[in-house]
Amino acid sequence: MTQLNFPDGFRWGAATAAYQIEGAATEDGRTPSIWDTFSHTPGKVRDGDTGDVACDHYHRSAEDVALLSGMGLNAYRLSVAWPRVQPGGRGPVNQVGLDFYRRLVDDLLGRDIEPWVTLYHWDLPQELEDAGGWPARDTAARFAEYAALTEAALGDRVKHWITLNEPWCSAMLGYGTGEHAPGHQDKVATLRAAHHLLLGHGLAVEAMRAQRPDSQYGITLNLHAFIPARDAPADAEAVRRLDGIGNRIFLDPLLRGEFPADLRADLAPVSDLAHIQDGDLATIAAPIDLLGLNYYSRNAVAAAKGEPHDPAIHSPWIGSERVRQISRGLPVTDMGWYVDPAGLTQQLLDVHRVCPDLPLYITENGAAYPDKPGPDGTVDDPDRVAYFDAHLRACHAALAAGVPLRGYFAWSLLDNFEWAHGYAKRFGLTYVDYATQERIPKTSAQWYGQVARANAIPAA
Ligand code: FCB
Repeated sequence: MTQLNFPDGFRWGAATAAYQIEGAATEDGRTPSIWDTFSHTPGKVRDGDTGDVACDHYHRSAEDVALLSGMGLNAYRLSVAWPRVQPGGRGPVNQVGLDFYRRLVDDLLGRDIEPWVTLYHWDLPQELEDAGGWPARDTAARFAEYAALTEAALGDRVKHWITLNEPWCSAMLGYGTGEHAPGHQDKVATLRAAHHLLLGHGLAVEAMRAQRPDSQYGITLNLHAFIPARDAPADAEAVRRLDGIGNRIFLDPLLRGEFPADLRADLAPVSDLAHIQDGDLATIAAPIDLLGLNYYSRNAVAAAKGEPHDPAIHSPWIGSERVRQISRGLPVTDMGWYVDPAGLTQQLLDVHRVCPDLPLYITENGAAYPDKPGPDGTVDDPDRVAYFDAHLRACHAALAAGVPLRGYFAWSLLDNFEWAHGYAKRFGLTYVDYATQERIPKTSAQWYGQVARANAIPAA
């Protein structure tokens, strides 16, 4: 395969999230988030792991910035922990918490690395959950207030803002299946949460843009790439259903200011959606400057046997719980996720079709593999190199087809706390020895650094 060049100015980054790496859970005024509560609840996270220490990034951020710089990356996507900068989720800022991010951002800028800040990567202050969490409308207003005060403090240095990371996970896994914090299983609450997350996004964009109109604001979604299991109308209908509750439930309000009519019908047995008030959809459709996509895999979908809706099943696919996702016989990562780079090209083309003028970024893409240090102390991870190579080629195919893809952030800079899987799944370009906190860049870090420096994928 030949060398593939990327456009000038392409962003080559890595991504992380606060709760997955920072640790220092009780330091300097930070209050608990729903993930502290959840991870400390027996049985919720594998091996009882918590983010109390994680990668100790709160105390080692300078070393971690040096890792990014060592790879020659020009961008870094981090998230701010809401309970660190506004403890309890309301009221004044916690200056010590903000200072941590200010130092981090200054370190990045000092090494010519552009900071991309996600405001919400799932760490809702526990006090706001106790007051109703995302199913409560007021949480949207609280989020916009937090976004505005964080932007006011860091916006002289940070020009790229992502409101929410993957609201699908926050709503559907947090309130639907209960696999993620806060661990509820309630379909109506899930639909309310999804809406209030979007409302919070719209209000936050409005508030931040009023403060600094020249910065760029967007959101990151984990859209689901689906293909029908067979070329049959019933399977196409199954794809329509999951595309509705998985993708268009977010895309249509954000990009068109509309709730999809077909999804409203699918959801009728569950909710009348009366929580969507007049004017909300217009707020949610506030113009954005970029859309972030997190891509990992693609699934094949087949028609339900019998009624698609089953109130007894706690599934993320509300209203379509019995639609089937079938096995595909492709190689899988350590997460059991299919390796399917063509799905990434498909997703970029599909999204570009619905918002042709919007710059797109891959804000996460990567793979878990269990590689550990060998006898010489190095960590060789050929599967991850192959995964990145194939997915970057898939990005390049989308660029060649005219998609305005402007950047790519590898998930993740470090092995880290992989939510309900604890520390058992390693997504890092850098190996982390959790006993000593030693960092060892893997072969993939060297490979990715070479790509970033050359602005090109080398010939294979
Ligand atoms: C995404 C999350 C990210 C990480 C990857 C593997 O859903 O945004 O924090 O856990 O999956």
